[in-house]
Amino acid sequence: MNLAVLGAQWGDEGKGKIVDLLTPHFDIVARCQGGHNAGHTVYVNGVKFVLRLIPSGILHGRVTCVIGNGVVVDPLALFAEIDELAAHGVAAANRLVVSDKAHLILPYHRDLDLLAEARRGERKIGTTSRGIGPAYEDKIARRGIRVADLADPAGLERHVRDNVTARNRLVHDSTMDWRPVYEALLQQSARLQPLVRDVSLMLSEAMRAGRSILFEGAQGTLLDIDHGTYPYVTSSNASIGGVCTGLGIGPRAIGAVLGVVKAYTTRVGEGPLPTELTGEMGDRLRDSGNEYGAVTGRPRRCGWYDAVAARYGVRINGLDAVALTKLDVLDGLERVEICTAYRCGSRTLQEFPSDIAQLAACDPVYESWPGWTTPTRGVRRFTDLPDNARRYVARLEEVTGVPAAIVSTGSERNDTILRNEILNLQISSFDKLRMP
Ligand code: IMP
Repeated sequence: MNLAVLGAQWGDEGKGKIVDLLTPHFDIVARCQGGHNAGHTVYVNGVKFVLRLIPSGILHGRVTCVIGNGVVVDPLALFAEIDELAAHGVAAANRLVVSDKAHLILPYHRDLDLLAEARRGERKIGTTSRGIGPAYEDKIARRGIRVADLADPAGLERHVRDNVTARNRLVHDSTMDWRPVYEALLQQSARLQPLVRDVSLMLSEAMRAGRSILFEGAQGTLLDIDHGTYPYVTSSNASIGGVCTGLGIGPRAIGAVLGVVKAYTTRVGEGPLPTELTGEMGDRLRDSGNEYGAVTGRPRRCGWYDAVAARYGVRINGLDAVALTKLDVLDGLERVEICTAYRCGSRTLQEFPSDIAQLAACDPVYESWPGWTTPTRGVRRFTDLPDNARRYVARLEEVTGVPAAIVSTGSERNDTILRNEILNLQISSFDKLRMP
């Protein structure tokens, strides 16, 4: 069975750890959207890996990792990541495949990202400044440069010249010379070419041969360009549709959909966050949860669990179950709150509103639950959780509407409760979850 693993909040849910954990049960791990704005963190025996473009399954030696056409690829970021992994003894290049249809992020995209943010002023989005939005803009405007274009140096030269000229028309405080951009691309092309494949065809053949695939999403449902809190979103489909369009597979290839949700809520960048805690409790969650951007280091905004947003994630993605992460961050709190609805003027909303102005005007309706003093950190069996932590998880399952198949109680692979009976992945043992 193929499984999609997607963020069901505002990103940073802990997808990296969950994908790494599940990878031994799959032959291929495929990323479908986003770029190096993602920062999927995996801890293995105390060593921290932050995977940005390369799928989080790469730490398992047997697995093929795929970067789909829906991903925007900065070749320099990709090579830096391959080199970082090599420095830790993980050989990535020979197990990595990049779609010929993936669009490239080039230096002018980074400039345009910064320029757009500066021009937005108070309405800035708080992007990761990686050039993600402008690269997707070029793709939609049909002037993007794709991986396959690297094979035609003459066409590429024209293309780069046109795009840099367009950049120079927009950016007034500096002029970019297209030649170094083009020459660097030719060099990068030589390193990239051996990885390039028709990913849709490759996945189709793999499935026919009985191989199983884990589809890895980046960012989260509330950052999705269509279904997120627009315009405070990223520029790709971070929800389930992105899996099909970003890899060239049909919907029936997806056997089950697992959403990743944090036991509380975070968001980095601008935009409404109904359960945001700006005082001491927000600081407490940020510090205990180490809620700082894995890519940009920015402090994340923190708040209580928002079941309205999580239910929306269940609906948009058709989630079968969730992996609930960072339960241990709530250890030691006297009380924990769950937002079950929004109050908007005289109305109580059970469903996440489409209108961002309405969302911004909503107040959370909370249920208060007793916290727990016995730590959950590192607990591996559901029955070993303190009673109040079990009740909290059970209530989250109720108000979210799907079961928690995985509960994460720490950053290491082993700090995990697997409830096999729920997802039926037959994960029986952590013994095989070793470093390659
Ligand atoms: P962009 O993707 O760099 O254009 O940023 C758009 C919005 O998405 C900003 O609010 C970013 O902070 C947010 N964002 C992008 N990638 C991630 C991620 O991987 N985790 C959390 N937020 C992200």
